[in-house]
Parts: sequence; C-alpha cells; structure tokens
Amino acid sequence: MREPMLTVSQLVMRFGGITALNDVSFTLAAGDITALIGPNGAGKTTLFNCITGMYTPSSGQVHFKTQDITGLPAHQIARSGIARTFQNLALFGGLTVLENLMTGAYLKGSSGLLQGVFTTPQARKEEQAAQKAAMEMLSFIGMEDMADALPTELSYGRQKQVEFARALMQKSELVLLDEPMAGMSTTEKAAMSALIQKVRHSLGISFLIVEHDIPVVMDLSDKIVVLDFGQKIAEGQPLDIQNDPAVIAAYLGSGH
Ligand SMILES: Nc1ncnc2c1ncn2[C@@H]1O[C@H](COP(=O)(O)OP(=O)(O)OP(=O)(O)O)[C@@H](O)[C@H]1O
Ligand SMILES: [Mg+2]
Repeated sequence: MREPMLTVSQLVMRFGGITALNDVSFTLAAGDITALIGPNGAGKTTLFNCITGMYTPSSGQVHFKTQDITGLPAHQIARSGIARTFQNLALFGGLTVLENLMTGAYLKGSSGLLQGVFTTPQARKEEQAAQKAAMEMLSFIGMEDMADALPTELSYGRQKQVEFARALMQKSELVLLDEPMAGMSTTEKAAMSALIQKVRHSLGISFLIVEHDIPVVMDLSDKIVVLDFGQKIAEGQPLDIQNDPAVIAAYLGSGH
C-alpha cells in the first residue's frame, strides 16, 4: 500500500476560549482529490492554516508523507512540497499575469525574495527559468495570450485560475485550494473543475479542496471529509457522504 500523502492526527487548534479544531484525524491518499466541506465557521480554513504552518496547532500532528511537519514555519512547509491558495483572491495587482506566476516559482528558488532578484548572475538565471516556466504554465492552462494583462483586466474566473496556476508554479506534490470556485458562475466553475482534473491527471498532483458547492464537490472529489464545529463528523466516498444523516443534519442546521 502506498503511504498517505498527508496524515492529520488528533489535531486541536484553540483560540482563547474557542476550539476551532477538535481532535481532527484523517489521511489523504496520493493522487486523490479530497474535498473538505462543512458549514461556515466549521474550521476548514483553520485546518489549512495548521497544515501549512500559518498556525501552530495546540496539539496533534501533521505528517507530509513520512515527514512530521507539525509546527514548522510556513516557508519550510512550502519548500517541502505543499502549496496553497487563499479564500480571498490574493493576486499582486501591480504585476502582470506572467509576473504573478513567476512569484510562485521564487517560493522554491534559492534567491528567495523578489527583492534584489535581478542583481546576481544566479538570480538572473533563476528569473529566466521562472519566466520560461510561467509561460509554459500559462499555455498549459490556455491563457498564454493573457501573459501581459493585469489581473484586474481579467474576468473573476480567470483571476482565480491565475491564482491556481501560481500555486502550481511551486511544483508541489500537494496543493490546498481554499474555495477556488467561490463567486464563480456555473460556467466558470465547470472550467475550473476541468482544469483541476487536467492537472491531477497530467501532473499527478494531490489536492485538498475546500468548496461549498456540493454538486461540484460530488463531481470532482474522490473522497470527502466533513467538519462541523471543529469536529470531523464524516469521511468517505461522495455518495456515502451525500446520504450521511450527520452531514445532512449539519447542513440543515446551518441553513444551507
Ligand atoms: N486567528 C483566529 N483567532 C480567533 N479565532 C479564529 C481565528 N481563525 C479562526 N478563528 C475561529 O475559528 C472558527 C473556524 O473558522 P474558519 O475560518 O476556520 O472556518 P471555515 O470553515 O473556513 O468557514 P468559512 O466557510 O466561512 O470560510 C471560527 O469560529 C473562527 O472565528
Ligand atoms: Mg474558510
């Protein structure tokens, strides 16, 4: 049996009196698209923040393959092979689409910071490599003709795709997407779903995706993990989850 891509064990995250995550455990199989769902405030983004090192969990562990990454700083976790996008669109407005993608590559480069990146021969080499990789990524997602556009000149759906592509530039084995389709039209959601599937099949990347649109989740994911009030209330195949009484109750209770 292949080792899991990610193992979350008895994870607890407290903020003062609030327990945002309470004893959450699950594994994520390599090559899978796993969805993380649950009502607003269930702890989904908090879980992402604990996995990626933005928060240090109060207790419990996170293993990336066999490596214990619990409590490591965010940049170290990014370098070890986990990329993410954020719930709110976070593109650099003053940079072109191509340049936004290039910033993703620098997260893995040895020069690191964008600042001063054009000054040494090593940094110039990295810049050229990043530019080439960014252009290749843009053609992969069918946006090469938008390389020089500013993000604000693109549709919202396209901007979310740029953010997704920027995360892919880190060449990570695992990518965490926090509501990649929020605010999208049905057509844009279908395009994004197709893009995620294409990436999974051609690059073999594993995904953990937070998404509120249940039909999209059912269609896209191999496995679903459900959180409610910081606890895991269900885990399994889409069809089982859809019919799980605890899941139905959680969604009805929250007015979904
Ligand atoms: N930095 C923080 N300080 C204090 N409380 C926090 C912090 N981050 C999250 N929380 C609390 O943890 C709980 C879970 O929030 P979280 O953002 O993880 O939910 P979510 O499932 O992502 O919700 P949504 O679907 O609305 O994005 C909430 O009660 C929230 O107020
Ligand atoms: Mg959230």
